Amino acid sequence: SLAATGELVALAAGTGDAVPAFNVITLEHVEAVITGAESAGAPVILQVSENAVKFRYGRLLPLARAATAAAEQASVPVALHLDHVQSDDLLRQTPDAGFSSVMYDASRLPYAENLAATRAAADWAHAQGLWIEAELGEVGGKNGRPPLDAHAPAARTDPAEARAFVADSGVDALAVAIGSVHAMTTRTAALDHDLLGRLTAALDVPLVLHGSSGLPDAELTAAVTGGITKVNVGTALNLAMTSAIKEFLTAHPEAVDSRKYLTVAREAMAEAVARIIGVLRAR
Ligand code: G3H
Ligand code: ZN
Repeated sequence: SLAATGELVALAAGTGDAVPAFNVITLEHVEAVITGAESAGAPVILQVSENAVKFRYGRLLPLARAATAAAEQASVPVALHLDHVQSDDLLRQTPDAGFSSVMYDASRLPYAENLAATRAAADWAHAQGLWIEAELGEVGGKNGRPPLDAHAPAARTDPAEARAFVADSGVDALAVAIGSVHAMTTRTAALDHDLLGRLTAALDVPLVLHGSSGLPDAELTAAVTGGITKVNVGTALNLAMTSAIKEFLTAHPEAVDSRKYLTVAREAMAEAVARIIGVLRAR
């Protein structure tokens, strides 16, 4: 059934759990995330990033409508979220696309500009009844850029600054930079748990972890225990998809019907989704 991101996040926050949010690019991603969540019997967030919209010729609606229909027919609650939005034009398409929430990303800007842009986005989003997430500090590795040094202080979220940022912008949730990096293909990232503890103590909004594909299982579990309420995963699905397709086409070089390799790709993604949900629950 179609759910609202704010409701799923609030439910998770109430029980000390985290909602997984998976980035979807194709219809096969959408189907795999829902199948994986159904097999685990867990609610899930489907998120479409601004980069995914760019890949879809700049159009949000075709994938958004497919995702909405799939969510409505799912046996578990599924919420739809627009991820890493920098464009005001795309931001304004959020409600018409059937999404209940958006992550507005001005984290590349200096503090004052990030705050001003985020506050304007939050005012607009709340007037539409949308839940809004923003980012302070910068989780590196976006848009194929080389990752920032995850240990550089500039790349981390400062707790006092974060407290002021949330109060002054009015956002509903905050993406924090605590050592994870986007687009990692190995599970080798190490989080700054001391910083997460200080952020959790300083803030009363749910905290969001980006770049979660790069975390070892124990780090993911510790992040949830430490106060992360929304866990964003993208690359892990692409890794599963691409590996499955490579393996299939190597074993079956004569294959022509795209359904053959998309079937194994979808199964591999669904397994990855169910596995990650299992890790989030195992506490
Ligand atoms: O917003 C999306 C996530 O941060 C995904 O990051 O692709 O490294 O898992 P990831
Ligand atoms: Zn992200």
